Amino acid sequence: MDLIEQYKELTEKCYPAPPKSFFSEIKSIVQKYPHRLEHIMEEDKMIGGCFVLELGKNIYGISGVVIDPKYQGKGYGKKLMEKIHKEDRGIFILKCNQNIKEFYLKIGYKVIKQKGGKNYMVYINNSEVIDF
Ligand SMILES: CC(C)(COP(=O)(O)OP(=O)(O)OC[C@H]1O[C@@H](n2cnc3c(N)ncnc32)[C@H](O)[C@@H]1OP(=O)(O)O)[C@@H](O)C(=O)NCCC(=O)NCCS
Repeated sequence: MDLIEQYKELTEKCYPAPPKSFFSEIKSIVQKYPHRLEHIMEEDKMIGGCFVLELGKNIYGISGVVIDPKYQGKGYGKKLMEKIHKEDRGIFILKCNQNIKEFYLKIGYKVIKQKGGKNYMVYINNSEVIDF
């Protein structure tokens, strides 16, 4: 099974459709940008994943973060985000629901805006990209 198929299966464990397919929503978002699928494997199975979008030079969007429910609360979400922050340096932005905000705060993200029940969050791991 290819990585996208594995990711799709993962999203279905976290968000069983109907009413709507989380995977198709994420797929239509990420297709607008150059992107990569970051993931975590355990015993040859994808247990966590998300998309990293290249929104601009040193500006990244994080979308569709999912950890297999069986593995949640064991540090894998944090590990996934740390993997991304190690690989890319710059400014990361994401949008999340109120119930997940705390997870991203723990990783170092800051809320910059709240609107319609959503939190808009930012993380900077290389301030030199703001060199003007
Ligand atoms: C949200 C999610 C990605 C977190 O991954 P995880 O592997 O369960 O989180 P971790 O075990 O790495 O947790 C890291 C820290 O964040 C905290 N945390 C994790 N989820 C949290 C939540 N929903 N609310 C508050 N704190 C949370 C943990 O307690 C832990 O704190 P600690 O370092 O003080 O021990 C995962 O639970 C998930 O996939 N949820 C369903 C899908 C989803 O909502 N995705 C987010 C889309 S924006």
